[in-house]
Amino acid sequence: MTDAVVAQGLTKYYGSGDRAVRALDGLDLRVEEGTVVGLLGPNGAGKTTTIKVLTTLLVPDAGSAHVLGQDVLAHPAAVRRTIGVSGQYAAVDEYLTGFENLDMVGRLYHLGARAARERARELLEQFDLADAADRQVKGYSGGMRRRLDLAGALVARPPVLFLDEPTTGLDPRSRLGMWGVITDLVRGGTTLLLTTQYLEEADQLADRIAVIDHGKVIAEGTADDLKDRLGGERVEVVVTHDDDLGRAREVLSGVGVGEAVVDARSRRLTVPVTGGAGVLVEVVRRLDDAAIAVSDLALRRPTLDDVFLTLTGHAPAEDDEADADAHDPATSRTEAR
Ligand SMILES: Nc1ncnc2c1ncn2[C@@H]1O[C@H](COP(=O)(O)OP(=O)(O)O)[C@@H](O)[C@H]1O
Ligand SMILES: [Mg+2]
Repeated sequence: MTDAVVAQGLTKYYGSGDRAVRALDGLDLRVEEGTVVGLLGPNGAGKTTTIKVLTTLLVPDAGSAHVLGQDVLAHPAAVRRTIGVSGQYAAVDEYLTGFENLDMVGRLYHLGARAARERARELLEQFDLADAADRQVKGYSGGMRRRLDLAGALVARPPVLFLDEPTTGLDPRSRLGMWGVITDLVRGGTTLLLTTQYLEEADQLADRIAVIDHGKVIAEGTADDLKDRLGGERVEVVVTHDDDLGRAREVLSGVGVGEAVVDARSRRLTVPVTGGAGVLVEVVRRLDDAAIAVSDLALRRPTLDDVFLTLTGHAPAEDDEADADAHDPATSRTEAR
């Protein structure tokens, strides 16, 4: 497999002197051709800065980046011909219709008048915007704008696509719609780097996840790799009768690699284990021997939330007061919702 996107040691400061902000701190990243990488991190982690460098919009202070073998710094124009970008805030013209927006993009790409029109219609259809095609974007919902913006990034059929927080600010239904659109896209072989603050989003869409914090990749792998890195699955048991809690705790502590934790209110016991599903069988056998009735029993792998907490010592998106967009009141207002 070849790498479609490679970033090495990217470093970027905003401002200078004492007040300089280090947005990127030696960031390394690879996206194999035809795969989806999710750059996952809280607000202010450096996601947008990374996207801007990779899409030639921002020059880093140090490090290098290549897209499809082209040097982003030495040959920005060549790189731009191979990429599509959809930024964190939809960049569509409010006063044009959906059709006119896409048609204009096609003309800017010199597709020719007829091909531009056809491509616009095709994309509007694909993104479920055909009915709204001839309405001004002013009246579009947030989800429709995002879809139109994404469509705009696809007009020239770029082999490599960058999406910066494609679903931030969308309601759950529009988010699901966006996920569907993105899934269809990558099935067609598009290489995609997307950023997100949502663990489920990375889990859902990405082949590999790079966790970013303070301008650095702090962990990288498949969602399963990352979950494994935490080690330790947990067995969770809910007992049927309150008075069994004490004995169940003894039983579970005997099977697990640590003490069982009891949540009396929900009658739930949790114990860290090793040995995968086999250990479940052992748990069931011992509970049965002790005649303890159980209403629920599960082997739970750590969630990506657990992963993030373990890796960074803080939960994702907990950094809201250190708002990444504090320098731009207009955008931090949108983000606050
Ligand atoms: N134009 C700018 N001027 C000053 N600081 C900035 C600017 N853009 C971003 N930053 C800072 O750089 C860091 C990374 O920001 P950003 O790349 O936007 O993070 P993310 O997209 O992950 O939220 C943050 O601390 C942010 O406040
Ligand atoms: Mg951002």
